Amino acid sequence: MGSHHHHHHVAEGGESAMAELLDLDAEVLHSYLSEVTAWIHELAADPPPRRILDLGAGTGAGTLALLQRFEEADAIALDVDPHMLRRLRDKAADLGLADRVHMVQADLDAEWPAIDTVDLVWASSSLHHMADPDRVLAELLAVLRPGGLLAVLELDSFPRFLPDDLGLGRPGLEARCHAVRAETMADRLPHLGADWGSRLSQAGFTVETERTFAIDLTPPLPAATGRYAQASLRRLRSGLDSRMSADDLATLDTLIDGDGPGSVLRRDDLAVRAKRTVWVARRP
Ligand SMILES: C[S@@+](CC[C@H](N)C(=O)[O-])C[C@H]1O[C@@H](n2cnc3c(N)ncnc32)[C@H](O)[C@@H]1O
Repeated sequence: MGSHHHHHHVAEGGESAMAELLDLDAEVLHSYLSEVTAWIHELAADPPPRRILDLGAGTGAGTLALLQRFEEADAIALDVDPHMLRRLRDKAADLGLADRVHMVQADLDAEWPAIDTVDLVWASSSLHHMADPDRVLAELLAVLRPGGLLAVLELDSFPRFLPDDLGLGRPGLEARCHAVRAETMADRLPHLGADWGSRLSQAGFTVETERTFAIDLTPPLPAATGRYAQASLRRLRSGLDSRMSADDLATLDTLIDGDGPGSVLRRDDLAVRAKRTVWVARRP
């Protein structure tokens, strides 16, 4: 349900914190996103798509990147969260793309909205949020024109930022946080880390290719990296209470604390390490 997802956002620092995190993700991982859209542009070139659907568009990282790649296309940005869509609309306007984006607010766990046939579907980190992704895949197959392309992007892991030994407390803090987080996520988001290739085949798509992108940004990195690390670690922190030692929590609090002396915003040793996989499938 939509409210279900809203609660998660609120628990993790509010909706605007989530939107901020998505924007920072797009900014810091810009070269990854650009590599993926360039690749999709090649695969979907003939004929070039006229209508694109961005499923779970969030603040529009994918929508806007695709509209810039596919200059003849319009995009439908679909999301349950009106706050995300407002942010997307403002960003589209800033880029002069407003008249090529159509916003659809819908909770895909509740019902599939009326959407015209599309040529390309982009689903980035959204399918694992759905209560029943297989049903959503069946709807996507139906809304895609025969021969049309579906790109599913999912995270293999959440990004890591910190060196193993921070010179604060016991080494390995970030790895311990992620281990605890993984346990809580398994209950909350059971489809996270699914084998999307086989689910796409089962849904009736022809899987054309699967590609894993290893992101490894090393210092010196732009200032947005610190803000991205802070936003990510804050989100991580929100699920950890009582599940980690007081020492670890205190170290983590120092790292995410505003711009205090121990804050990640002041570290020059941050990296960004992440793995993301993209599946490209076609409607037969
Ligand atoms: C992790 S964000 C990814 C956003 C964007 N695709 C990106 O890659 O930056 C997941 C998005 O899926 C949306 N979402 C989650 N559950 C949904 C549902 N049941 N129906 C529609 N959208 C949903 C959320 O509101 C959120 O914007």
